[in-house]
Amino acid sequence: MIRRPPRSTLFPYTTLFRSPGIGQIVESHFSELGPIEGLEKVTVRSVVQDHAKGLGHAVLMAKESVGERPFFCLLADDLIWPGHPVLPGLATAGSAGVSVLCLRELTDELLATKGVVVPGSDVVDQALDVAGAVEKPGVDAAPSRLGIQGRYLFTAEVFELLSKTEPGYGGEIQLTDAIAELGRIGRCRGHIADTTLLDVGNPNAYLHAAAVLGASHPDYGDSFKMAIKDMAEDW
Ligand code: G1P
Repeated sequence: MIRRPPRSTLFPYTTLFRSPGIGQIVESHFSELGPIEGLEKVTVRSVVQDHAKGLGHAVLMAKESVGERPFFCLLADDLIWPGHPVLPGLATAGSAGVSVLCLRELTDELLATKGVVVPGSDVVDQALDVAGAVEKPGVDAAPSRLGIQGRYLFTAEVFELLSKTEPGYGGEIQLTDAIAELGRIGRCRGHIADTTLLDVGNPNAYLHAAAVLGASHPDYGDSFKMAIKDMAEDW
């Protein structure tokens, strides 16, 4: 599913993501990659969101392609650290057949930028019940510090809930509002990942992510750090 970024998003990829051929670009990317280990029989199919009506609306676009199966939802503007996958943890937490969110502790300032969950139980083995969720509540309204990172494991029931979800925060159909309903009916868990995902969804965070990934790269890290140090001397 290819989500259309809101008009207000100031980011280079918005132009690409709004172009009519984006679906074909994504499909040819995967066909050029060749078979993915363990996923040899997977067919890549793109579904493009027609208007920027929100993340919840974008996920709902994938309903027909997904069918009744549980599915992972991966937001492309949250990158995992290479070698630190979070999906196995979500799969373990969801083994009882419920939806699972990838969570992390947020600082005050990030509470206004992420979905934040209402904890429904204590944390055991990095997992807890989720009783509700609020989109971008800010520090004063936040029900906890546990923020949603862009990795989800959903059961197909989320589509039914999304189809009934009215526009919420920012006038958009929010995935977090459907998650709040999953929590209310006792069908949602959270998995607190060992690792923080790298947000590349805004220019500042994108530059930060490029710098930390560059500095930790096994081949280019040392020379990259030297180049940054040299530049910093002139700042
Ligand atoms: C989206 C979700 C938010 C989630 C975040 C993860 O926000 O709406 O609940 O915490 O992704 O990155 P966006 O980044 O699209 O503003």
